[in-house]
Amino acid sequence: MSDYTLRDRTHNCNSLTSRDAGKEVILIGWVASRRNLGGAVFVDLRDREGITQLVFLQEKEGDLQSRAQQLRYEDVVSVRGTVISRGDKNKTGKIKTGEIEVDVSELNIYSRSEPLPFPIRDDISSTLETRLKYRYLDLRRTSVQKNLIMRSKFVSAIRKYLTGDGFLEIETPYMVKYTPGGARNFLVPSRLNQGQFYALAESPQIYKQLLMVAGMEKYFQIAKCFRDEDPRQDRQLEFTQIDLEMSFADENDIMNLVEAMIIQAFTETGLKFNSVPFQKMEWEQAMSLYGCDKPDTRFGIPHVNLNKFASESGIGILEKAAQNSFLVKGICIPKSASFFSRKKIDELTEFVKKEEIGQAKGLIWLKLGADGAFTGSVAKFLTPEKTEILKNTMSVEVDDTVFIVADETAVTHKVMDNLRRHIAKILNIIPPGSFSALWVTRFPMFEKSSEGQWVSSHHPFTHPVREDLEKLGTEQQGSVKAMAYDLVINGNEVGGGSVRIHDSEIQAKVFKSLGIADEQAQQLFGFLLEAFKYGVPPHAGFAAGLDRLAMIITGAESIRDVIAFPKSVNGADLMTNAPTRVLEKQLQELGIAVNSNPEKE
Ligand code: AMO
Repeated sequence: MSDYTLRDRTHNCNSLTSRDAGKEVILIGWVASRRNLGGAVFVDLRDREGITQLVFLQEKEGDLQSRAQQLRYEDVVSVRGTVISRGDKNKTGKIKTGEIEVDVSELNIYSRSEPLPFPIRDDISSTLETRLKYRYLDLRRTSVQKNLIMRSKFVSAIRKYLTGDGFLEIETPYMVKYTPGGARNFLVPSRLNQGQFYALAESPQIYKQLLMVAGMEKYFQIAKCFRDEDPRQDRQLEFTQIDLEMSFADENDIMNLVEAMIIQAFTETGLKFNSVPFQKMEWEQAMSLYGCDKPDTRFGIPHVNLNKFASESGIGILEKAAQNSFLVKGICIPKSASFFSRKKIDELTEFVKKEEIGQAKGLIWLKLGADGAFTGSVAKFLTPEKTEILKNTMSVEVDDTVFIVADETAVTHKVMDNLRRHIAKILNIIPPGSFSALWVTRFPMFEKSSEGQWVSSHHPFTHPVREDLEKLGTEQQGSVKAMAYDLVINGNEVGGGSVRIHDSEIQAKVFKSLGIADEQAQQLFGFLLEAFKYGVPPHAGFAAGLDRLAMIITGAESIRDVIAFPKSVNGADLMTNAPTRVLEKQLQELGIAVNSNPEKE
């Protein structure tokens, strides 16, 4: 009996084929299943690479077979045995090693498993909560392991690309100075400086700019970021960025670099984009064609602006909408008239009214018949002349369906974006395994907060486009565009970046435009402004969301499926039960104890 180690292992569980028949092998893994059949015991042995079938035959010496009969799911074992071909009759294509089995002559049991809370299979019905509580078991499932293996390959391709291109991998602090704006920060009380707090870095933004001041030229980091936001399908409290910054670089330098890096990492993971180079589109065009700044470009169905048509359409609600300066948009779905039954259209009407979809007041629909006339909710108002105008404006052909929404601009954009994505899904027109990337450029520099204040759309160090510099601080400030760019893949924002301001006069103007007074700027970002006095190179950068990229390349539904230990929807770690209460004494040590019983004071 020997306790084999990985050094002794001859093969992983996904590698033996009929060409190995006759070889003596040592395998190590978990018991994925056991069956007693016709005097033999069959065991599926699983490791992170795959499964190999073991067979324990009766005629072996000693108690080998009876020990095999007692194996339970998830016992950890090693075996020595001989590879035998299963022959044409018994081979299976279901697993990669289906041509062979291993006739076992030695079995070592490292540890036993108790009955499991759920089976280690891909098609399990246990709740997300149970799976997160036993995440180490969930991670044994092949589909989740595959995701982590693919993510690891992807990151290593990124590292290889960037280091090969002269980028230095440099770590920056996670415990940083709190600065307002941007995402809500997690705070960390300081024991050594009572009453004071660090923030957990929401990104390495300021440090990477300081590394440029320090002359590092090309920096990157696979950085953890922390943002106190509500977790969602594409959002976690802590997530990972592929963060980079480069000196003496402009927008195109960064976009070209990132594009080449992403294509290389996709290629090394065995994936391919539908088209390269990536498409580029200014923000304004993206909003007009798709109603959002992260359109899914794997399919068409662009939005068509119908305001002109609406204003003289003869259709009361559309004319009124146009008069009220509402936005009227339509989409045309080719050859879909028979697909969109009354029931389906009623369902779509309910869909667009939902709060999370944008809460449209209604949905206008029209179908073009073979007689050249429309049928549908507003068809009776359309004269032949208006019918022609609508057909031409939207390139409508026989058997096409048109959907129209007229509402406040933000509502129309949001609803039509969601409707376009939803229709692509129900019509099943997105080819599986296809990847379409788009650069969205020229974002607005500022936006209005819910309190009506100007805030940065990106962050206050983003460079305005040169031709808009004069608009800063004027009434036209809202139309100032930024040298900022986002990378969108399959309708997900996978990253963003910008050219940074390196000129203190422009920086001062931007702070002023944001209503940040000089003293306040000094107080918040004084260290950066000070650093910028001593020779600062022009620089630009980018950060990609690694979890989102991993979700896309693996086809996962949520970034949770590509993170080893993700948080639940409530931000909890259900496995360790974090966060937890701590002792009053610990809070006192940190200087943040709240006396829960004031009478005792
Ligand atoms: P930004 O805030 O756009 O830019 O973040 C960059 C990318 O990080 C990902 N991301 C997230 N992923 C998972 N969970 C989250 N909560 C989350 N928040 C963001 C997204 C996003 O595109 N410092 C700038 C970058 C720069 O200008 O260089 C920044 O952090 O994929």
